[in-house]
Amino acid sequence: MIADIILKNCKIWYQNTLIEYGLAINEGKIVSISKDTGLPPSDEKINCKGNIILPGLTDVHVHFREPGLTWKGDWLTESKAALKGGITYIMEMPNTIPPTTTVERVLEKREFAKKSVVNYGLYGGVSEENIDQIGELAKHVKAFKIFMGKSTGTLILDKHDLVLKAFSEISKANKVACVHAEDQKTMDEFSKKYKDRDDLMIHALSKPPQVEIEAIRHAIRMAKQTKVKLHICHLSTKGGLELIKDAKKEGMDITCETCPHYFLMNQDDFKQKGALLKINPPLRSKENQLAILQGINDVSIDILATDHAPHTLEEKGKGIHEAPSGMPGVENSLQLMLDAVNKKMISFNRVIELMHDNPVKRFDLGNYGYIQKGNDANLTIVDLKRKWKITGENVATKSGWSPFEGWEGNGSPTYTVINGRILNIEL
Ligand code: DOR
Ligand code: ZN
Ligand code: ZN
Repeated sequence: MIADIILKNCKIWYQNTLIEYGLAINEGKIVSISKDTGLPPSDEKINCKGNIILPGLTDVHVHFREPGLTWKGDWLTESKAALKGGITYIMEMPNTIPPTTTVERVLEKREFAKKSVVNYGLYGGVSEENIDQIGELAKHVKAFKIFMGKSTGTLILDKHDLVLKAFSEISKANKVACVHAEDQKTMDEFSKKYKDRDDLMIHALSKPPQVEIEAIRHAIRMAKQTKVKLHICHLSTKGGLELIKDAKKEGMDITCETCPHYFLMNQDDFKQKGALLKINPPLRSKENQLAILQGINDVSIDILATDHAPHTLEEKGKGIHEAPSGMPGVENSLQLMLDAVNKKMISFNRVIELMHDNPVKRFDLGNYGYIQKGNDANLTIVDLKRKWKITGENVATKSGWSPFEGWEGNGSPTYTVINGRILNIEL
């Protein structure tokens, strides 16, 4: 056999160790994994120069903005950003315009998503109007997203009797209920209390840790009642993590995700970057930041995603009250994680669990990305030493900026392989 492409002079992350093997790809599939001398012939040979082939990494929490908000991002631009960041599979959130809450709208979004250069799955959104259609919608989406408090967009489900009903329907459909854990009632109390503040802290003060902790407490209680598979999105607090750990100990089917900014940044960063860092849930104190890093390392946090939520610089420049919440991130998470590996903050093995193994398991993606003969070739190739610097000029997202502007580090993807097609990543 003549293979379409062979990758040689690489190391493969295989069953938790690095081995000096290469691989061959034919018709989109991995057809051989062996020492370079044992690979089949091919006209296209890629020299990986000692770099490491990983299973195709994922980001299960992104907002690509199409339909309805395409001046911020669209399926082509934002999927290119993912590809550049070494991400081969994304899951896209439902708070577009219109929101992805009916089968028809899911099918419509799939048409836009044909432009995607990475693999993807879609979330269905839950609102007061569509709870009865969850069973039908479940046939077309990977998972459901519930906003327990108001965030960017119009989706919200803050009445607990309705959340309970939604959990029950999602459980019947055997899907995962992914929760934006901000309790609306608690948020209203604190917003009232701090309404007269006029500084950069106002957003964070209006959504203190209690807002997240309360929502997680309620979500866990209702998940116990309905036996739904529960996933807490973008975890940011120590107190929330404690509740999740306890629930796991009790044997509940619960997972959680965090994002790079919750353990690499904290509220002190507002001073320099202002409303660019306005997000929901907000950046937290140093204490919470350290608790999230610890949760990553003691394996109580399951998944790393980015909550990639592009808004334009013009929108973000409107000041702390008016600026929309959210910031881009899909193209930088792997660099940041590899840099954290080099700094011995996180183990290499953990990065692969957080960005591949656990998301694949949680969202029933089968053997997606695994480096196995016969599997579709979805791979992320990384150079642990490659230097990077993030600037607005070199980002791929349509929004044109990064909250990590000016950051430098080591460790980057060099190639991303999507269904057998190889992209060389220029930085
Ligand atoms: O900061 C956020 N931005 N949090 C969300 O929940 C939504 C997101 C967005 O879509 O902009
Ligand atoms: Zn959210
Ligand atoms: Zn989000």
